[in-house]
Amino acid sequence: MTCALVVPAAGRGERLGAGLPKALVPLAGEPLLVHALRRALASGVVDVVVVVAPEGRQEHVRALLGPLGAADVRVVAGGAERQDSVRCGLAALPPGVDVVLVHDAARCLTPPAVFRAVVAAVRGGAVAVVPVLPVSDTVKRVAGDVVLETVDRRELVAVQTPQGFDPAPLRAAHEAARGATGAAPATDDAGMLEALGHRVRTVPGDDTAFKVTRPVDLVLAEALLSGGRA
Ligand code: CTP
Ligand code: MG
Repeated sequence: MTCALVVPAAGRGERLGAGLPKALVPLAGEPLLVHALRRALASGVVDVVVVVAPEGRQEHVRALLGPLGAADVRVVAGGAERQDSVRCGLAALPPGVDVVLVHDAARCLTPPAVFRAVVAAVRGGAVAVVPVLPVSDTVKRVAGDVVLETVDRRELVAVQTPQGFDPAPLRAAHEAARGATGAAPATDDAGMLEALGHRVRTVPGDDTAFKVTRPVDLVLAEALLSGGRA
């Protein structure tokens, strides 16, 4: 049994606005990507790592990851959209993988237990697994500045990563999405399997698995780390 972790880390981090690719932005002195991978490896369930690196930063990323001591780390170049980057990562997987995890470098404080729970659910027979949390805000559908309706949030969850998959349907979904013209690029991988009719299962997510997206998220991450809470 081999579990492979694909880490899309090739985004520009425009909303964070730190002036360098988000995965390389320092948090308590280390890049977000290093924080993310350390926690993933500490789960004990990851055998192979494929990092999808920002443009022109492959060698830099390889050097960053050396000290983490993972047995098999591959670094590849990304694409224009997240889904392109994930597809590049999938192309670098070795044969014989029974679980693929896809995990955003930007969810850099995700605890090891979430990785273990997702892998266990895939090995228990699920085709696709996502960690989720209840939605705490009231959510409304709008058109411009006009509210159309308030959505019943008891039916809603917020979705995190790592997301776990049976490798063959994940690859098939990425190939299908690649051919789709005019469709908005997917923001998560499980959504691509849903679109093909696969059943996606949930496991409990974690508050510390939030995605560092805007400057305030980096402040929260620093506070959690310095307070020993992540
Ligand atoms: N990502 C990627 N390749 C892309 C775009 C995003 O590998 N072409 C990765 C990011 O590095 C991140 C994850 O996908 O780890 C989630 O994306 P997001 O939070 O949107 O990161 P960025 O695209 O970097 O941020 P922004 O959208 O603010 O520019
Ligand atoms: Mg983005």
